[in-house]
Amino acid sequence: MNRIENLLAAMTVEEKIGQLNMVAAGYAVTGPVLASGTAEGIRAGRIGSLLNLWGAQEIHAMQKIAVEKTRLSIPLLAGFDVLHGHKTIFPIPLAEAACFEPRLWEASARAAAIEAAADGISMTFAPMLDIARDPRWGRIAEGAGEDPWVVTQFAKAKVRGFQGGGLPEGLASAGAVAATAKHFCAYGAALAGRDYASADVSERLLHEVYLPPFAAAVAAGCAAIMPAFNDIAGIPMTAHIPLLRDWLRRKAGFDGVIVSDYNAVAELIRHGIAGDLVEAAAAALRAGVDIDMMSGAYSQGLAPAIARGLVSIEAINAAVRRVLKLKERLGLFDDPYRRGSAGASAPNVSAARRDLAREAGRRSIVLLTNDHVLPLSPELRRIALIGPLADARADMLGPWAMAGNASDPVTIREGLAAALPDVEIVFATGVTIAGEDTSGIAAAREICRDADLVLLCLGEAASMSGEAASRANPGLPGAQNALAEAIFELEKPVVVLISSGRPLMISTIAAKAQALVATWFLGVEAGNAIADVLTGTFNPTGRLPVTWPRDVGQVPIFFAERPSGRPADPDNHYTSKYLDMPIEPLFPFGHGLSYSRFGLSKPRINKKDFKRGDELTIEVDVINEGAAAGEETVFLFARDIVASVTRPLLELKGVGKIALAPGEGGTICFRLAAEALTFPGSDLQPVFEPGEFLLSAGPSADPHGLLTVKVRALPG
Ligand code: BGC
Repeated sequence: MNRIENLLAAMTVEEKIGQLNMVAAGYAVTGPVLASGTAEGIRAGRIGSLLNLWGAQEIHAMQKIAVEKTRLSIPLLAGFDVLHGHKTIFPIPLAEAACFEPRLWEASARAAAIEAAADGISMTFAPMLDIARDPRWGRIAEGAGEDPWVVTQFAKAKVRGFQGGGLPEGLASAGAVAATAKHFCAYGAALAGRDYASADVSERLLHEVYLPPFAAAVAAGCAAIMPAFNDIAGIPMTAHIPLLRDWLRRKAGFDGVIVSDYNAVAELIRHGIAGDLVEAAAAALRAGVDIDMMSGAYSQGLAPAIARGLVSIEAINAAVRRVLKLKERLGLFDDPYRRGSAGASAPNVSAARRDLAREAGRRSIVLLTNDHVLPLSPELRRIALIGPLADARADMLGPWAMAGNASDPVTIREGLAAALPDVEIVFATGVTIAGEDTSGIAAAREICRDADLVLLCLGEAASMSGEAASRANPGLPGAQNALAEAIFELEKPVVVLISSGRPLMISTIAAKAQALVATWFLGVEAGNAIADVLTGTFNPTGRLPVTWPRDVGQVPIFFAERPSGRPADPDNHYTSKYLDMPIEPLFPFGHGLSYSRFGLSKPRINKKDFKRGDELTIEVDVINEGAAAGEETVFLFARDIVASVTRPLLELKGVGKIALAPGEGGTICFRLAAEALTFPGSDLQPVFEPGEFLLSAGPSADPHGLLTVKVRALPG
C-alpha cells in the first residue's frame, strides 16, 4: 500500500474528519466567524488545514504541532488569499487584465508564489475566475473582466505561475503554492450586483461563459477549486451535485481538492436547503466538497451524518484521500517545513519584484481620452496635484493585500515628484474620498490658479471594491464631483486620474477632462507607474478588459451580446434602445489610447473555405503612424451569421500585440483552429456548423473600428 492508503487504513473517523476541517488561525479576518483554540484543535487531530496565517515562523510553529504532537504526524496545509501579490503588491487582477499579457500574468503569480511560499504558505485561494459584467459588484476588481476567452487565458497563466509550472519539482517546489480556482461558478452574476446574492443563469450561459475558465484551470492542473457562495437557480454551489460532481469531477476530470468558501457549508442552512449542521455537512460532502472552510459543519456534523445514514464512510474516505494527495503533491510529507525554510528566498519586497510591479503597473493603465495634453509637456513649470487619491498611500494597495505593508506603495504625488524634479508640484486633497465636507475645495481651487495644468486624482478607497463591497451607485463617492466641478470651472487643462476597483460612472467628468486615465489600484509601484505614463517615459498600452458603462442603468453591459430581432435604430421607435441614454457604453471593451496612432489593414486569410480540423491564419498589417514608438493591440472577433441557436454579435477569439517604431509597419498573425468556432448546440453539446462566419479585427470591440472578412465552414 502507498503512503496515503496506509494512512487511511490507520485513521479513526475523527481523524479523517479532522483532515477535512480548515480553520482560520486568526491573523486576518476574511469572514464573519473566528476560530479559537487552533493549536489545541491541531493537537487533537481535529484540524487538517489553516487559513489566514502567514509568516514562516508562525506557520512552522503550527506545523510542528501537527507533525510532532499528533498520532499520525500528518502535516497541515496553510492557505491564504494571494490575489495580487503577497508582500510585493501588484495591480489588482482587473487592472492586470488590461495588460492582455499572459506572460506578465504568469510572472506576477510566480513572484507572488515565491513570496507566499517563503512565508510558509502552501496554498492560495486564487486565481479568481469570475466573469463580471456588473460594476456594482465589488468583486469585479478581483477577476479578469467580462470575457470568457480572456479569463481562460488568465486562468492558465495564473495556475502555471502559482504552481511553479516549468520548475523541475513543480508543485512540490519550495517556491510553489497550490492554486485554487474560484468561485465556481457564476458568482459574478449575483442578483443586482449584490455580493452573496443568488444567481439565476441559463445552462447555455454556464456552458458558454462561466464554465470555460474553470475547464481551462482544470486542464492546467489546478490543485483546488472553491465553490461560490451563491446558489444557481435554487441550488447553492456548495451543494451543487450537477456542477460539482457531474460537470467538474466527471466531465472536466477534476481530481483535486474542492474547498468550500468561508463558512459556506453552514450557510446551507440559511440558504434553506439544510435543517441543521448535520444536513448541511451531508449535502456538501455528497456534492464533493472535500474541505469545510471555517464553518464547523464537518467537524460537528459529519459523524452524526454517518449515524443518520446521510453520508457513507466511503465518501469521507474519498475526500480525505484527495486532501492527503494534495499534501503529498506539495511535498509536505517529505518536508513539512520546506516552504519558509532558511535558504528559500526572503518573503519581503525585493528590487526585482518591485521592477515587475512597475512594469505590470504601467501596462495596466488605460488612457481613456486625451485631448493633446498627455504626455505632459516638458514646458510645464507648475502642476497642481489635486484630489483625495493623489497621496493615498494605503489605498494604492487595492482590496486584497492582507500581507502587504500599507507603507510600501509609492503615491502618485511621490511618483510625480521623482519623475519631474524641475517642476513645481503644488498639492491639495480638496476633499476626502467619501466625506461630504466641501470646505477644502476653495483652497484646492486657489492653488490651481497659477498652475499650467491640473492633475485631478479621484476615485474610490481600496475598501470600496473587493468582497462585500457592492455599490448601488458606483460613481465618485462623497464630494468628489463637487471638487471636480470647481476645478473644471477654472478652465485650465485638467487631466483626471481615476483610482478604482471597477469602471466608475463618470460620464460628466469624461466629457470635461482634457484627458482621462484609468489607474485602478496598481500596488506598491502605483505612483512610479503612473508617472511613467503621464510623462511619456512609457507609452500606454493598457486596454479595457470590461465595457465601461455611461451610467448604472446600462448594467449589465458587455460586448458579446446576442442579436436582437429589433436592433437599435434611432429612426425606428420599436427597437432595442433607451429613451433617455444611448445604448453604447462610455468606452467599449478593448478601448485604450496610445501616444502613437496606428493604422490597421483589412485582415488577410489563408483560406476562405475551411473544414473541421483546418487552421485559419488571419494576418493584420499594422503601421505606426504616430511620432512615438508604441505598441498596438488588435482583437480578433468572430460572428457566426446563421446558426441553430443565436450566436453573440462578437465573440473574442484572439488578442495580438505588436511594438513598432514611428513609421514602422508589421504584421500580427492569428491562428484560429476551426474547432474554436464550435459552440454549445441546442442540446448544449458542442457543434461545428457549416455556414458563413464574419471574422473581424480591430483595436476594440467598438463595431465602427472593426475590419471584417467573411469565411465559410464547409460540411464534413
Ligand atoms: C472569500 C474567498 C476567500 C475566503 C478566504 C471568503 O470570504 O469569498 O474569496 O478566499 O474568504 O479568505
